[in-house]
Amino acid sequence: VLPPAESGEDGAILAKDILGNPIPASQILAEAPGTRALVAGLAGDPTYLIVEENSCLNSMGIVNNCTHLGCTFPWNSVDQQFQCPCHGSRYSADGSVLRGPAPLPLKLVHVAVRNNQIWISPWTELDPRTQAQPWWV
Ligand code: FES
Repeated sequence: VLPPAESGEDGAILAKDILGNPIPASQILAEAPGTRALVAGLAGDPTYLIVEENSCLNSMGIVNNCTHLGCTFPWNSVDQQFQCPCHGSRYSADGSVLRGPAPLPLKLVHVAVRNNQIWISPWTELDPRTQAQPWWV
């Protein structure tokens, strides 16, 4: 007997809630455009999904793990920044560092919606923000 299809080729997994249950895409897409919705992603990493206009998810997810010392942080919708409460690092909407002490941009993952399921998979190609190999690969 095969387990339920919860992981695909390319290391993809389903986005889960805090209890470990897969989250239907419709639940996240019911949020207002601009919402950063927190889910459990690869290896359980807390990961922000970005709700776009016309009921889409941005294909880039951002891991909620500060590159300074690993704190989690909220999205500040007024400043349009991720702002780490531990030592004041700030990141732009795409996870680039705006202010240290964070030394590196936030880790990215791929996000795809299929059949009302949200799939998260590793980002292994060039980091579009730095045009360099991702630091996490
Ligand atoms: Fe985020 Fe230090 S852990 S600024």
